Amino acid sequence: MNGSISSIENHTCRLCDKSTLRPFLDLGSMPIANAFLSSEQLSEPEYTFNLYTGFCESCFMVQLIDTVDPNLLFHDNYAYFSSISNVMDQHFAALANIISNEIFYDEELSVIEIGSNDGILLEKISGYSSNTIGIEPSSNVAEVAQNKGLKVVSEFFNSDLAGKLVMDYNPAQLVVGANVLCHIPDLNELAHALNTVLDDEGVFIFEDPYLLDIMSKLAYDQIYDEHFYYFSVTSLSTLFERHGLRLFRVEQIPVHGGSMRIYGCKSESRRSTEQSVVNQLQIENDKGLSNLESYIAFADSVKKSRLSLVALLDKLQNEGKRIVGYAASSKGTVILNYCGIGADVLEYVCDNTPSKQGLFTPGTHIPIVSIESFASDYPDYAFVLAWNHMKEISDKESEFRSQGGRFITHIPEARIV
Ligand code: SAM
Ligand code: TMP
Repeated sequence: MNGSISSIENHTCRLCDKSTLRPFLDLGSMPIANAFLSSEQLSEPEYTFNLYTGFCESCFMVQLIDTVDPNLLFHDNYAYFSSISNVMDQHFAALANIISNEIFYDEELSVIEIGSNDGILLEKISGYSSNTIGIEPSSNVAEVAQNKGLKVVSEFFNSDLAGKLVMDYNPAQLVVGANVLCHIPDLNELAHALNTVLDDEGVFIFEDPYLLDIMSKLAYDQIYDEHFYYFSVTSLSTLFERHGLRLFRVEQIPVHGGSMRIYGCKSESRRSTEQSVVNQLQIENDKGLSNLESYIAFADSVKKSRLSLVALLDKLQNEGKRIVGYAASSKGTVILNYCGIGADVLEYVCDNTPSKQGLFTPGTHIPIVSIESFASDYPDYAFVLAWNHMKEISDKESEFRSQGGRFITHIPEARIV
């Protein structure tokens, strides 16, 4: 079943509405990255869409051309639980610290987290104001946070909700969201909602995978249905400026393989724009992020990366080695489908998320097993399908290594590590 819900007609930019959206990378027909399948579902038709990206030459936003209805992505069975990663837990503890030292200024005003998931960050900032609220449309993960005693509204964040939040909890001194801005298809409406909910001196902080890292690491597997956009500081500044908002600080952070944390406020705010914004805009300009040619070159390198991965796996298979996948990630869905890697290549994929175990990978139908199954009978090679968690996984799996096992990664090119 091919079911792209929304396709940009004649390649018009979703945000600035100009007909200057240039397609550059086609990753082919793709299932929903987190739509893991039960054994009964294996014989049913699978939903697919065209994973196709474009670059807008007018507003510089890199975006999906065909998109999937968010209701099909964020629901009562959302597969990603933020708290699976200790590294992310530490990361959010550090962010909570920054917020308390630098951003928090009036405990009467609200603090809002968009995409609060299972409460990994929300619980660390909920002491700052009695009006700290998480917004989380995926009800199963929202419930985990609610069960920790956190205040969570299980809805999509938008202008209507922003208006209600102001009435119920006062304007916001802070709106924060990690790995969620890129999940919101209508960023013009998001900017409108920010204007509605923010106090005049309020701050917004978002962190998302950074386009420059995606391009320099050839991390094409960051491109999937949930990520409607791939941000640069250039494209976000352009977007927010159109809506009376302004970035005043940016910071590159290492999580999820390279992300950008942006700090913003209303244009008229007393906060001054820091040098970090000016510097990053210059770096992006020097790296060619405003030129279509850079994206075409990236697409070319992605094709070569696929060839090198397939060749490495072929070689190991021909040598009779046992290979498995490690981490049933959303990125893994992209890699496996784009490179045509199925159960004939990977015996299984192991993952530490209990709700994924016993299911099958979308499109490629490889069984997902527990980490305990992996440890009970080590293979020769484990291809890490969540390269962004490579260090954490490799540290945990010292026993696999000491018994002669080796990891495979495909970033930036296929190799044994
Ligand atoms: N913030 C967490 C983190 O960084 O680990 C969760 C990130 S997860 C990739 C994205 C979350 O955003 C999901 O839990 C999803 O349900 C939620 N989400 C998606 N669209 C949203 C929207 N419009 N408003 C609020 N949350 C949204
Ligand atoms: P994601 O890239 O879609 O966020 O998924 C990452 C997956 O990696 C998630 O299903 C859990 C899995 N994982 C492990 O199995 N072991 C680990 O140590 C870590 C950090 C993640």
